[in-house]
Amino acid sequence: MSLRTQVGIVGAGPAGLLLSHLLQRQGIESVVVERHTRQYVEDRVRAGVLEQWTADLMIETGIGGRLKREGMYHHGVMFRFAGRTHRFDFDQLVGGRCIIVYPQNKVVADLFDARAAAGGQVITEAEDVSVDDFANAGDGATAKIRFRKGGEAQEIECDFIAGCDGFHGVCRPSIPAGALTVYDRVYPFGWLGILAEAPPSSEELIYAYSERGFALLSMRTPQIGRLYLQCKPDEDIHEWPDERIWEELQLRLASSDPKWKLTEGKVLQKGVTGMRSFVAEPMQYGKLFLAGDAAHIVPPTGAKGLNLAAADVVVLAKALKEFYATGRREQLDGYSAKALRRVWKAQRFSWWMTSMLHLFDTDNAFDRRRQLAELDYVTGSHAAQQTLAENYIGLPME
Ligand code: FAD
Ligand code: DHB
Repeated sequence: MSLRTQVGIVGAGPAGLLLSHLLQRQGIESVVVERHTRQYVEDRVRAGVLEQWTADLMIETGIGGRLKREGMYHHGVMFRFAGRTHRFDFDQLVGGRCIIVYPQNKVVADLFDARAAAGGQVITEAEDVSVDDFANAGDGATAKIRFRKGGEAQEIECDFIAGCDGFHGVCRPSIPAGALTVYDRVYPFGWLGILAEAPPSSEELIYAYSERGFALLSMRTPQIGRLYLQCKPDEDIHEWPDERIWEELQLRLASSDPKWKLTEGKVLQKGVTGMRSFVAEPMQYGKLFLAGDAAHIVPPTGAKGLNLAAADVVVLAKALKEFYATGRREQLDGYSAKALRRVWKAQRFSWWMTSMLHLFDTDNAFDRRRQLAELDYVTGSHAAQQTLAENYIGLPME
């Protein structure tokens, strides 16, 4: 069976679904092709923090109803190290802008609902997805997305393809070797994350540096906590029974305030994620545009991945709007350069947060002292606090 659309989108994660939503509001047709079921995509436990502009975008484009009810607006964030807890006060540092704790699962569910309500086509459980005929940016052959659905071969002809299929997708590897330059760094640790039926012990997130490694206290709802521990990159989760996880969290998140207590609870889910920084440049090849994790990965310490995916598709949607309205290609041609400026600033920030807060096994006592001095500086200097806060809540969208 053959279909025709303006923009064929591979991947129904936050990047693909948000792009489809934005395009529909601009009167541009799209079809999303996803290899997994909606349930699978929605159930993946991933990001939790939205930059304010991302939340504002959801509200302004009509998909922010639940976000406004259930999103937790945080006007500060905590760092804990060397027996001290420091609060970065966003009201004071960045004029009242903030972050919103609202899980990726809900973002994705809201977007799936919006696509369904608008009659948007999202084809899930697509097998053997491939992309073809996209090399020529100008006219030439129409780009194609091919896949099998329920055993039947299908093809979508499109003006453009958006590769929103994440780090392990098919779009980036379909670009000829040599056309892309890859920049990357793999970190010698990962994060062990849990979701727990334990009310968060702090109203705001706590990033903790300790002699035993990094820990992070976050949350999903006022009843459900989300916590992370720095671990080995290939950590065997079976060696981490719930009691051991709580014991380690207690040690790493310990406060000098005797009244503070980390509340424990039933562990609902646990998993280990590796950490890397990765950028593929340029983010375009002919009629194929890469967006989100398909083009770049950040270590999660800065809470930037989902927000960067959203920023990419905002730039891409605007460029496509201009193309369909006027036939002009300038913005499409400038997509990669524009998106990459933000990507690299987020890369720098995520790398810096990761380097400051984690223990590296190649570090010696000098490096530990250096890290403590950096934390002391970053929490002590108004200028440094402002720099951290400005990046953490998200740099302005151009
Ligand atoms: P994905 O979410 O990976 O979506 C890609 C989609 O494409 C998937 O649904 C996949 O099934 C589909 N797909 C893949 N291959 C194919 C194929 N061949 N054919 C069709 N479909 C395909 N970011 C933040 O901003 N804040 C945070 O607090 C944060 N915390 C994180 C914590 C953890 C533990 C992790 C792992 C990530 C975190 N991130 C965070 C990062 C964030 O989750 C990602 O950056 C985000 O999911 C990227 O969205 P995406 O749509 O680009 O890619
Ligand atoms: C969460 C994840 C992050 O990577 C982060 O920096 C903050 C919060 C979270 O999952 O809640």
